Formats: sequence, C-alpha cells, structure tokens
Amino acid sequence: PGLDPSKDYAIRFQPVARTTADTVTVPAGYQVQVLFSTGDAVEAGSTAWTEGAFPAWDVTDKRAGGDNDGMHYFALPGVDPQQGGLLAINHEQVDMRVYFPSGTFTGSFNEATATLDQKRLALSSVGVSVIEVTQANGTWSVKHDSTYNRRYTGNSAYGVGGPARSRLGATIIGTLNNCSSGATPWGTYLTCEETTSNYFDSSQPDVNYGWVVELDPQGELLAQGVKRTAMGRFAHENVAYLVGEDNRVAFYMGDDTTPGCIYKFVPTRAYDPVNRAANVNLLDDGTLYVAQFNAGGGGVWIPLVQGNAGLTAADGFATQADVLIECQDAAVSVGGTVMDRPEWITVGPNKDIFVTLTNNSGRGTNAPVDAANPRAENHHGHIIRWNEAGNSPLATTFTWSIFLLAGDPTQAATLNKPNLAGNINGDAFSSPDGLRLDPAGRLWVETDMNLGSTATPTVFGNNGMYCIDPATGVSKRFLVGPVGCEITGIAYTPDLTTFFVNIQHPTQAWPEAGRTPRSSTIVIRRADNQPVGA
Ligand code: FEO
Ligand code: CA
Ligand code: CA
Ligand code: CA
Repeated sequence: PGLDPSKDYAIRFQPVARTTADTVTVPAGYQVQVLFSTGDAVEAGSTAWTEGAFPAWDVTDKRAGGDNDGMHYFALPGVDPQQGGLLAINHEQVDMRVYFPSGTFTGSFNEATATLDQKRLALSSVGVSVIEVTQANGTWSVKHDSTYNRRYTGNSAYGVGGPARSRLGATIIGTLNNCSSGATPWGTYLTCEETTSNYFDSSQPDVNYGWVVELDPQGELLAQGVKRTAMGRFAHENVAYLVGEDNRVAFYMGDDTTPGCIYKFVPTRAYDPVNRAANVNLLDDGTLYVAQFNAGGGGVWIPLVQGNAGLTAADGFATQADVLIECQDAAVSVGGTVMDRPEWITVGPNKDIFVTLTNNSGRGTNAPVDAANPRAENHHGHIIRWNEAGNSPLATTFTWSIFLLAGDPTQAATLNKPNLAGNINGDAFSSPDGLRLDPAGRLWVETDMNLGSTATPTVFGNNGMYCIDPATGVSKRFLVGPVGCEITGIAYTPDLTTFFVNIQHPTQAWPEAGRTPRSSTIVIRRADNQPVGA
C-alpha cells in the first residue's frame, strides 16, 4: 500500500498566518487530535500520570517519556496500515515538570544531590515508546492492551554490535537523549543518541553513548535494542536511507554539533527484502564516510577507515574502534566539512537528498565561512540539497546546492543585518530542524527557533511546520505550535490521510488548560479524508 492513485497530492492548502497563540493552528478543514503525551500509559497494565503525582522509577519506566521527538509509523502484518499500526516515538529529555515535584531540585537536575532512585526516575523519561495505534471513523487511539506496547529507557539493557564492541563490551545500560530517528528498509527503528554529554560531568567516561540504536518494534528480530557502533559515535540527529540497485543501502546521518559533519554508512552486504531475519546484523559491517562539500557544487565521501591517511596509530587511531568512538576528530582530520549544525536528512522518492543546517551564530568564529556554510553569524540556518553520483548509495562523489537560506527581511532590516534576510519564497521561517520528503515528494520542514534573542516569535510566530514544493521552492505555513514548543517528528499512514506530529516542550497551558503542559504526539487529518497538505 502507498499513495492512492485516485487522490490529488498537489500542495493546495490555504496557509495559516504566523501566530503566537497557545494552540495548534492548522488550515481550515483540518482536525487536530492529541494522541499521546508525556506520562501516558505505554506497557500493558501500566497506569497514566496524574497531575501532582510523582511515582517511583519502575512505574514511570513503563509510561511515556518526556519531549516526544523523532518517530516512525510501521505497518503490522495482517493490519490495513491506513487503519492501524505501530508508532515508535523518541523521548529526548527529562521533563522535570512531570517527573519531579517542584522544589526537588533547584533549576535543573542535580547529579551531585540526586539519589539513585531519582537518577533512575530521570533515566526512565528518555528512550523510546512503541505503541500500537488504531483508527475508528477518523479518530485515532492507543491500544492499551497491545503486547507490542513497550518502553526502551535509560534504565534498559542494550546489546552492542560492530567494531567498537571490542572496547565497549557486549552490554550497555541505557540509551540517552533520543533526538530524532529513522527506519531501515527491513522495518526496524533507528533511535539516535544526540547530546549525551548533557548527562555526564567531565570526570565520567561517556563513550558508551552517542550511537545509533536499532530496535524492532515488532519484537521479532531483536529481543533488545542494539547499539550499532559501525555507524559512528557523535551527536546523532536522525537517519535516512537510500536503496539502490541490487538492494545495496546507504544510511545518511547528521552530527548536530556546532559545527558538525554529515556522514553516510554503507553496509557491506545488500539487504534481503524477502527474508527479514537475514538483515538482523547488517548494520555491524560496512564503511562509514564523511562528506566534504567543495566550492563549485561538487562533493566527496571520504572513508573513515583505520589505516587511511590521518587515521593511524601515530594519530591516535590504533583500531577501527578508536576511529568510530572518536568519530568527530577522525572526520575532521580526513577533511570532512564542518556544517552549521546538521539536523535532519531526508531522501525523496526521486532520490534527491536534503539536509537542514539549523543555525550557527558562531560561523566565522568557530569555523570559517565556506561555500556550503556561506553566512557568518548564521542565526536562521539553511537547507542544502544533494544528489549522489548516479543516484547510487555506493557513490563516492555527489553534487550539491543551497536550496534556501532561512530568515526574514523584516528582521534583517530591524537588526541592520542584511545577511539574515534569507531567500525563502513565500512563508518565512527560522532554524529548520525536522525535515521529510513524503512519498508524494513534498518537503515538510519543522522549526526549532531559539526563542530568545535574534529569532523572535514576533517576526516568525511560534515554531511551526511548513510545506515546500521542491520544484518551485514555494513555502507555505501549514501548522503553528503552541507557546514555547518546537515542532518535531513526522510520520504518516501510507496514503497520507493521517499525519502524526510531535509538539515538544510546550510551556503554557497546552494541551490541557489548568494542567502541567506536556509534550504530545498529535494526529492531523482532514474532515473530508483527503490527503494532508493537498
Ligand atoms: Fe535534538 Fe538536534 O535536535
Ligand atoms: Ca532536532
Ligand atoms: Ca534543534
Ligand atoms: Ca528538542
């Protein structure tokens, strides 16, 4: 199942105006439903959070974590995927408001004074929720008795695959800071550990975190999550794949570091589209590359292989495990281009690849301006498009161009910084982060503006979601989130009549007046059951 050939997928919706309203604003004819919020019950038999109650970690370890982020919708065998399936949803951070009574800590979590149980409570709020969801007459709900419902948390045990297992051991407790994510062609979920340094003081080794973790929402291939170390250790944002001839696959990944590189991982073997079990450890053996963006629109994928120039024992890389664990250093030493904070990467149905570079106000200071990062003090970010040579996942070269520079002329004039105006054709935004080319080839952009200094809601409205026609570059504002939130995560049914989107860290009265604001997964549909965005 996929797009419905009887339906129209052209971008025809009437865009919404920028707003700072404390609600989810969508075009006329669209409906918004809150599906799944921090503290909701996940595992069968668990209970939901109630206002003012702060239970033990082994209770919250079975509930929805904080800060819903990247997610993916999976079909289930024997179930019409337009009507029901599995959602795997990342939880990026601890929501102190839901997890701890006010006054437990001053300001933020304090490792020095926290008890072991408090640390476990905090760790229960990161990781992944897998929930079975089902639709009845346009209304979606979580199947609370489903045996698929499962939490993977900062307290769970994970296997270790790939070359760095030699240094890390066979088991690691916890996954951390699960930002965005991806899927594999064989239907597993890839949850990405991003800014894991937030969870350690400088005296502690943190090399166990910063990996891509593969898990099977169906619980069939993998009994537990597995850290796939061959894909490198850095501040992983998300993963997007390109399948080529003979079922060879490339997985693209951004390092959301200021500044950080763009990578791809190419497994040695082709994937097996028929025998799912044959792919079980495919991600443990392959070649990791870093991207070098050159002036003139050309680019090169440089392999990160121990023994290559700059990656020898004399340089501190005695084994491939060393290369993978110190991946950021290895990437820079071989000539990888440091980008203005790579967030999401997406691969379209026509094999175009896009990446959001969310912003880097220190460009010009922390790295020189270059062709692919052309603005000093890049407060608003940009989006780059590239194509692999021959559109092949095995390519070692690519061509690239800047798709758009984000920003707003009004603000640029106010600040007397023409450099911030950008060149968006239509509804302007700042700090693109979430990004997805849907199966109809429409580019969805979700923003994560710094709500402080230069990028202000008075210019752009609250963070939102925009739909861009890649052919014309025309941007239309589709959704605006409530106060204080960022918009992240995008998933949909195969016919695109249902979209799932995450509202992360709202700060006022959304989604329920009179209660603590909570990160939530929402459902967006049209009353006439036509595709979203059309
Ligand atoms: Fe967690 Fe880079 O966003
Ligand atoms: Ca992000
Ligand atoms: Ca961000
Ligand atoms: Ca976030």
